[in-house]
Parts: sequence; C-alpha cells; structure tokens
Amino acid sequence: MQSSPVTKYRPFPPVNLPDRQWPNRVIDRAPQWCSVDLRDGNQALPQPMNIEEKLELFALLVKIGFKEIEVGFPSASQIEFDFCRRLIDENRIPADVTIQILCQCREELIVRSLEALRGAKNVIFHLYNSTSPKQRAYVFGASKADIVGIAVTAISWLKQHGRALIEAGTRLRLEYSPESFTSTELEFALEICEAVTDAWQPTVTDKIILNLPATVEYATPNVHADQIEWMCRHLTRRDATIVSLHTHNDRGTGVAATELSLLAGADRVEGTLFGNGERTGNLDLVIVALNLYTQGVHPGLDFSDINQIREAYERCTRLDVHVRHPYAGELVFTAFSGSHQDAIKKSMPHQQPGRPWDVLYIPIDPADIGRSYKAIIRINSQSGKGGVAYVLENEFGYQLPKLMHREIGRIINDLADAMGTELQSSEIHDVFVREYLDPREPLRLDHCQSTERDGQVTCEAKITYRGQPLAIKGQGNGPIDAFSRALAAAGVPAFELLSYSEHSLGRGADTSAISYIQIKDSRGHTFFGAGTNTSIELASLKALVSAINRALK
Ligand code: KIV
Ligand code: ZN
Repeated sequence: MQSSPVTKYRPFPPVNLPDRQWPNRVIDRAPQWCSVDLRDGNQALPQPMNIEEKLELFALLVKIGFKEIEVGFPSASQIEFDFCRRLIDENRIPADVTIQILCQCREELIVRSLEALRGAKNVIFHLYNSTSPKQRAYVFGASKADIVGIAVTAISWLKQHGRALIEAGTRLRLEYSPESFTSTELEFALEICEAVTDAWQPTVTDKIILNLPATVEYATPNVHADQIEWMCRHLTRRDATIVSLHTHNDRGTGVAATELSLLAGADRVEGTLFGNGERTGNLDLVIVALNLYTQGVHPGLDFSDINQIREAYERCTRLDVHVRHPYAGELVFTAFSGSHQDAIKKSMPHQQPGRPWDVLYIPIDPADIGRSYKAIIRINSQSGKGGVAYVLENEFGYQLPKLMHREIGRIINDLADAMGTELQSSEIHDVFVREYLDPREPLRLDHCQSTERDGQVTCEAKITYRGQPLAIKGQGNGPIDAFSRALAAAGVPAFELLSYSEHSLGRGADTSAISYIQIKDSRGHTFFGAGTNTSIELASLKALVSAINRALK
C-alpha cells in the first residue's frame, strides 16, 4: 500500500446542495422494483445460466412478486434472443409483469431486440450509453454533443422501428440510462436526460424511466443521495419521469446508497437477489426489501420462504449465499455468544402476540421469512452445509475448503436423516474421520519416499491396491504429481487434480498438517479427500489416497 495514498487516490468531490432535504425524511413506502438478475446478474456469472436455469429463475422472480424483470440483452447473443422468445412464445409472462430488455444505441441492435419482443404484452426497452468524462475521452473519443446525439438518435430509431410492435398491441415503454451517471458531471447528466425526454415525449400517464446508475461505486452513500436529489429537483418533466436507481457495490455500500437515494426522491430500484452482479455485485434487493419490512413498510415482495429462494438461486447461479448474509445466511439466526443467547432467551417471553417485535439481537422475526432462531448450532437433517463446517472448524480445527462444505454437509444430513435425530459434535467428527481420514480400501499408502533433482521429483512408494502389495515409481513436477503418475502406471484409474489446500493442526510439539485434495474422475464426478501427518508432503499424498478411495467406493 502507498504510504501517502492521497497522491494516488483523490477524494470524490461533494455535491453543492446545502439545502438537501433527504436527511430529514423517512422511507414510508416501497419503491417499484426491477430485478436485473437475468441480465446484469447473469453476465457476471463465471458460468452464465443456461435457458432452463433462466426459466427457473424467471419463475422464481415472478413468484416473489417482481412486476418488472430485465430478461436479457437479446441482440447480444442467440441464447439471450431465444430466452426472450421462449418467455413470449410459451406464455410464461403473467399479464401484470413487464419484461425489460437492454440494448445499445445502435440501429441494427434495436431492430433485432424488437424482433425478440414480438408478441410481448408489456415491454420496457432499456437504452443506454456511457456519459462520464473518462468514458467520453478514453473509450469513445466523443464530445458531449456526440454523446447526446447517440442517445437521441437511438430514441428516434426506437420510435420508428417500434411502431409495428405498438400497433400489434404491445405497451412499449422507454428506460434510458446514462451509464456511469455517478461519475458524470451532474449538469451534463441532466442535459442528456432532458434531451432523451424531449425526444421520447413521455406523459404523466405514460412516463419515461430515467435510470441513474452507480455503474462503479466511487463515493459515500450521502454523495449518491445528493446526486439523486439534485437530479430530481432539476428534471423539468419530473411528473412524467420515473427516477430509477441502479447501484453497484464496489465500496460495499450499495444498499446504503440506494436507501438514502430513496429518501432523496427516487421511485424505482434495480438490483439482484443476494446482490449478484459485476465485480462486488449489484444492489441486493433482498436486503433492501427486508430492511423496509423491518421498518413496518411492506415491500410488496414475498420472502416468506427465504430458504427456498436461496436454494433456487444457488442452484441456478452456482453461487453460494454467505453464511453471514443479512436475512438469508445460514448462521444469521444462530447465536453463539452465551450472553447474546441469554438476552434473547430472556427477551423472548416479553414478546406478546400482535405487539411490535421486541426480541434482543434479532431485528426480524425469523418466522416471517420461514426461519427459526437457534441458540447454538444444531445439526440435523435440515441443517445446511455451513453449520457442519462451522462445527468442524471451531471444535476440531479443520478449515475445510469452501467447496468441500457441500460434500460433507450432504453426508452428515443423510446420516442425520437416517438416524432421525440431531448429531452431536463428536459424532460429526467421527463421520469426518471415518469418511475421509481412515479409509484404506481399495488403496493404501504403506511407505513413500521422494527425491528431487533439477526440478524433477521422483516418488518411490509401496502401496496395497485391491489387496495386492505393489512397489511403484513415478516422476513429476512435485510430489503429488509424481505420486499420481506412479499410481496411474500401476493401473489405478485416471483422475484429474482440481484443488489442493493445507493448514496446520494443533500447536507446539503436537502440530501436524492436514491437506485437502479435490479430484475429478473420468465420469466428471468430483471427490474431496483429506490426509493428516506431521509431514506436509505425506499429508498431501494421504489426502490424494483418501480422495481416490472415495471415488472408487
Ligand atoms: O451498471 C450499469 O451502469 C448498467 C447499465 C447498463 C444500466 O448495468
Ligand atoms: Zn449494472
């Protein structure tokens, strides 16, 4: 880090708004919500959703109660186009739900997007172009007038090519985003929004949506609120405009920026479930909605089965919701501290049915979102993977890699299900040892020695494989590689090494090492293994043997 960061990083300039009104207001009604999970969220996934996953997520968003859903960027790829068509052709869009699509300000893309929308009842056509000085200078080499021209021309193309869609019965609304709004001079952001509004000619009954994105979050949330209040006060057709927020979370304050900007006068909020999105994510809609709920304002979205929503989200996106994630995380209604447990226990009996919620340390009644309070971690067949990992780490010192939580969680859940009871920590530990550390069948490592020369490691080992003692030898760029090659030469089925991690266990004279290895077999199934030893090298070879035994089981 820099010793004097001010020479490298500059503070974000404040907005000159001495009579700002937002600090004195409260949020007393829910905004209009728009989910951008299927567009901004999807484009940020390491593995974007396939059409079936998108359909499942769309159905989930509808069930939660979203009335505006950005379904993609249909002119950008065939899969995005096809998804839009399937929604329309298969009548999957309820009459009261509007689909929104994103499009750049280019004529051929506008035409293609309109094709994707043929037959839809309610559409928001979302056009955007970048407006900040740096985007203008570095990316587009364009003047302010050029940038305004791009947006205004796009509106005329949309009016021209969208006529047929409107005549065929589609309600076509416009959303315009000056992308990178928060990094744009406010006067210029206003100028381009006014020009777009002039070109579109909205009315009080058919409003334009001006979406003012914090494409990258650079400032504190109060600055964002000032920018939004400034815009709300300067827009000449405010009554014909829906002011929309679209915050990203680079400083970790996307939720705060949105909440303060609702105070500042915004009408609408775009975001994603659990905050998935580019870099640090989009605004987390679940948090803002449930924050409102805990202030006595119904958000108009239904999160009464948050666990089911989290599971569907994790399945479709292949992302995990963090165990500490507000409202949805596995551990957020579990108290570990004795004094917190005591206070919760003592305040619970004061809670009268029908009276305001008043339980210490828990700001929302977990039952309202389908959850329950736990005084300590209890592992039963309903427990999630994070609880098992927590017990193994906190009581026994095993820091399992994140990806292993799901595997061990499933093993423990199945056992708890079969036993029909809660499992004690010692029982969880026994299962871990039995499943990962003990197995010696069909492969056992009896002895191993490795030597290194000129960067090449030679491993000579004695193993027992399917009851047969064997002496094996292999060379590789490290001990694991050399041992793997020796095993393959001895006829042990092939596998691919996916991940490796290790840490020490215990302290002082008793310190040993534990290694975790994940492998993939020829059918594409993955397995973790774990091994302990006072030597790190041996621990890693044992971890490999453990993973192979689990794969061959
Ligand atoms: O973050 C952003 O600026 C966007 C726009 C396309 C609205 O996603
Ligand atoms: Zn975005």
